[in-house]
Amino acid sequence: MDATVFVQELETLKAERLSPIIGAGRTSLADGAPGDTTKMLRVALANEISVSELAAVWMPSTTEIDVKLAFARQAGDEAGHFQLVADRLSALGFDVAGFRPPGENPLFQYLKGLSTTVERVAAGLFTLESLAYAVNENFMAFCDRRGDGETTRIYREYIQPDERAHQQLGQRLLAKYATTPELQRAARNAVERVLEIAAAARSQTAERMGTASFPGC
Ligand SMILES: [Fe+2]
Ligand SMILES: [Fe+2]
Repeated sequence: MDATVFVQELETLKAERLSPIIGAGRTSLADGAPGDTTKMLRVALANEISVSELAAVWMPSTTEIDVKLAFARQAGDEAGHFQLVADRLSALGFDVAGFRPPGENPLFQYLKGLSTTVERVAAGLFTLESLAYAVNENFMAFCDRRGDGETTRIYREYIQPDERAHQQLGQRLLAKYATTPELQRAARNAVERVLEIAAAARSQTAERMGTASFPGC
């Protein structure tokens, strides 16, 4: 299949699989937006540092120079998001000095185990970044309802434009590299697997936190 057509089809599949995850966040909002903003921002902190680390881990073993640079750029951007979220938490009175990066979880274990460029791009930039963008929109709606326009502004002005750019970079790189049936199959599997693991992890976290409208990376 032509790689551009393949990416369009993969977009459709991704949107389909994302929809229940996004829907869960909307249901929480409709239920009166339960939840604690600082707890939710701590989830964001953990996600941002995990994704920054993942992109940094992938960078040296990726030989294609444009993909290598994409991971390098992403590692830096996610570190910037970590800092923005940490500053916001401090302003809300939460001491981030005691924050410790989270241990391994099944999602990042799976992602770190991916060894091919096409799988990494499909799972990371293309899928995880779309998930992040979508769940962050729910989180922003939650903050708005809480009257926390400052957190929403930080997401709208700084974080979301980066997450969208990461996802678009993923689309372009997939269209360039997922050129054979084998590579396309590997990419599709990676997209499905990431969303499967992420959906399970998010529903566990939602249960613990009493809301599904917490942010992503
Ligand atoms: Fe991101
Ligand atoms: Fe991020």
